[in-house]
Amino acid sequence: MKEKIIIFDTTLRDGEQSPGASLNNKEKLEIAKQLETLGVDIIEAGFPVSSPGDFRAVKMVAKGIKKSSVCGLARAVKADIDAAYNAVKYAKKSPRLHIFLATSEIHMKYKLKKAESEILKASAWAVKYAKRKLKDIEFSPEDASRTNKEFLYKVLEAVIDAGATTVNIPDTVGYSTPYEFGSLIKGIKENVPNIHKAVISVHCHNDLGLAVSNSLAAVLNGARQVECTINGLGERAGNASLEEVVMSLATRGDIFNFGTNIKTKEIYKTSRLVSKLTGIPVQPNKAIVGANAFAHEAGIHQDGFLKERRTYEIMKPQDVGFEETKLVLGKHSGRHGLKARLKKLGYTLTDKELDRAFLRFKKLADKKKEVFDEDLATIVEDEISAIPEIYRLVSFYISSGNKVTPSASVTLKHKGKDLRADSTGDGPVDACYKALEKIAGVKPRLLGYNLNAVTAGKDALGEVSVRMRVGKRIVNGRGASTDVIEASLKAYLNALNKIEAFSG
Ligand code: KIV
Ligand code: ZN
Repeated sequence: MKEKIIIFDTTLRDGEQSPGASLNNKEKLEIAKQLETLGVDIIEAGFPVSSPGDFRAVKMVAKGIKKSSVCGLARAVKADIDAAYNAVKYAKKSPRLHIFLATSEIHMKYKLKKAESEILKASAWAVKYAKRKLKDIEFSPEDASRTNKEFLYKVLEAVIDAGATTVNIPDTVGYSTPYEFGSLIKGIKENVPNIHKAVISVHCHNDLGLAVSNSLAAVLNGARQVECTINGLGERAGNASLEEVVMSLATRGDIFNFGTNIKTKEIYKTSRLVSKLTGIPVQPNKAIVGANAFAHEAGIHQDGFLKERRTYEIMKPQDVGFEETKLVLGKHSGRHGLKARLKKLGYTLTDKELDRAFLRFKKLADKKKEVFDEDLATIVEDEISAIPEIYRLVSFYISSGNKVTPSASVTLKHKGKDLRADSTGDGPVDACYKALEKIAGVKPRLLGYNLNAVTAGKDALGEVSVRMRVGKRIVNGRGASTDVIEASLKAYLNALNKIEAFSG
């Protein structure tokens, strides 16, 4: 039996710190359930003291998850630890508290304005206090990779003495490099006298694009837990991506010789779900889960691949859950057929959700001869998104061309009334967006607009994601339709509805 690397997923905490990635509680629970199916050992569900909403989300995840441990983040202060404990205590499988306090000189001097001795005392105190509540305590010396090593060793020794069962070494600002980070872990193993009583974990950020490499170097030097996120989401440039860490360990068993509990066939589905619900698209050339990750474009590559797959492929797409596109249903398929197919794809819907999905499916099947698994996934993920439709698209009309000023007329349903506005714009999408803004009375700044085809073919579903800023808040929205203008409108409305729902 290979030794296991513990996979600690922080998509719902650090990942949610990605600008614009705010998720509502239902969406968080849905992601947590998929993470559980994926087989992650620990789900960091949030930072309970940060807001009542976060507290409720962590509690909901703790209550809803059976097979993974659920963890809540806390600073080294009583109020944070109490809040985190009160949220995770419902977890069925060993709830965990994750306490952090910065130890680097720059953080201590400018952010915390505290001396080393105070940090040392506060760290040990916090772990001791938390230990009175729970067995499973993780401690992170924030900015560990820029911390004076002798001081870092002292802090780690003190928190392990106080009862920490995992010590996590964050490369908080993604500053380290693989050789340096591996040596840091080695130094910790050699210089912290009680280190054998705790699991060494790592938490690497991707500011220099080295988060996965640093995590793997740490594993080779004694780390046995890796903190990571789906699609590499996270603060700034993100965290180490779970799929890249896991598939590196699995593909290069000759170097690593470690296993994980991850069911790799669930990776692609999890990536899609997280992308959909956060509204953050996956770049096509993203390793493991990008649309091009297994595409062979060049003739020489295709030729070699057809002769022997391993000439140009180091992993099988099926191993990470990319299935061959299948024709599944057509316009004569019924509700039962849809339900059965969705079940096979891993979606269990309530009757109401199924009704809505079936209506959408029928409309799509009318427009599109062939409905593929990817289309169904898009429809379902749209229908079970928990954003209330405060504004709903009723109809739109556009006029556009290269010799006319593009114009749009849009009607929305709001509180039972039809509201209509007309506008011109730089293009039909711009005209539609201006009409929407007139109705909703907001003027967001559009930061990004992305259009993707869900499947191949002229009649493919188009999926639009938008990213907008209103005041200080950044939100993402998404929408899908065989008509790209309608998909664009739906995406913008989805974002506007999020703004309304979160501010209301
Ligand atoms: O990046 C970081 O240092 C963190 C800690 C809270 C572990 O996210
Ligand atoms: Zn982090």
